[in-house]
Amino acid sequence: MTNFEVQSGFQSGEDFAIAMDERDPLREFRQRFLFPRTADGDCVYLCGHSLGLQPKTAAAYVEEELKDWAQLGVEGHFRAKNPWMPYHRLLTEKTAELVGAKPLEVVVMNSLTVNLHLMMVSFYRPTKGRHKIVVERGAFPSDQYAVQSQIRFHGLDPATSLIELTPRPGEFCLSDDDIDTVIEREGDQIALIVLGGVNYATGQVFDMARITRSGHARGCVVGFDLAHGAGNLPLKLHEWGPDFAVWCSYKYLNGGPGCAAGCFVHERHAHGWDLPRFAGWWGHDEQSRFEMGPNFRAMSGADGWQLSNPSIVSLAVLRASMDVFHEAGMERLRAKSVSLTGYLEFLLSQKASSNFAVITPHEEERRGAQLSIRVLRNGRALCERLAEEGILGDWREPDTFRVAPVPLYNSYHDVFRFVQRFAAAIG
Ligand SMILES: Cc1ncc(COP(=O)(O)O)c(C=O)c1O
Repeated sequence: MTNFEVQSGFQSGEDFAIAMDERDPLREFRQRFLFPRTADGDCVYLCGHSLGLQPKTAAAYVEEELKDWAQLGVEGHFRAKNPWMPYHRLLTEKTAELVGAKPLEVVVMNSLTVNLHLMMVSFYRPTKGRHKIVVERGAFPSDQYAVQSQIRFHGLDPATSLIELTPRPGEFCLSDDDIDTVIEREGDQIALIVLGGVNYATGQVFDMARITRSGHARGCVVGFDLAHGAGNLPLKLHEWGPDFAVWCSYKYLNGGPGCAAGCFVHERHAHGWDLPRFAGWWGHDEQSRFEMGPNFRAMSGADGWQLSNPSIVSLAVLRASMDVFHEAGMERLRAKSVSLTGYLEFLLSQKASSNFAVITPHEEERRGAQLSIRVLRNGRALCERLAEEGILGDWREPDTFRVAPVPLYNSYHDVFRFVQRFAAAIG
């Protein structure tokens, strides 16, 4: 055994991966998902940070709604086995549990970028002195477009109203201290801090409790994009206290492409009737919604930000997935995730080469399931070649190969197979 093996507790042989899988208390969950296949067998699917796999139960959940629709037509809104009118409520408890929120604080609706805009309509309220938005440099493009367009919507200019947090020279991730320093220094001009809970490119997890504390101490509103956090990390949104958060449901949450997204609005705004908001009938008081009156009266809590009646088919798939999540439990998933990602990092370190480097932080509290591997030469071609062999991660320009061993359905043996193929391909 090498020193590194002793220190990490991991071993480099295939028998270790097989033994770890045998001991894995969550191993049964892998059978509950449909894996893409190649002619030779199952893919090694390390792409749950992009699109999660389909739960085998999803088809039955959808079928039930299609059947009720066929048999009941419009009556299904009230008479379906799970009536469609309040259908989104079937997701409330489990969504709240997943993100550490109270049921009043969460709703499943729209898509991520739409929800981000809706939140900024209410929570980005620039004044002459306090007009800036803080984001990570290189945030996901949709977030960048959304914040820039919101700034312009208020007649302001991103050149003077946008602060981009930047890693130190030669580094890829942000330092927690540097984030605090910017908030401290610019605080009285900052209207809104909106960061990804996990940076999509580097996989860095931000200290959301600390950022919220620092932001609030300087009078700023704080929101998070949890596209890469929901279903990946245990979250305590109520306790940490950001004003809002948004996430999509098609990555770690396995809700399927374009699935309805999530939104959190902290309880302190549950009755924020004075907040400006874009309104739609589905956010209107349920008791009087069908009186069809002209005056909007928002529901309490996150529900009051809904616009439209949601796609029941989309919610049905998400229910299938959330039921599996609930059964597995986020704490157990996180324990396996820390181990599985550590194992991936360990195996990669055994194959060290001048052509790649892991840029995701090493500390377990600063990362989730994803490792971002910077490939210096011919990375895109390498990623495409591996995909042809059924080894699926994804490529993000200019130089990042992102892979995520997802604890719900990936095995240690998946990780082992990935590293073998990756190392052989990189040469
Ligand atoms: C961090 C982040 N923000 C925003 C989005 C955009 O999501 P949507 O197309 O669901 O609005 C994505 C999509 O992958 C993302 O990863």
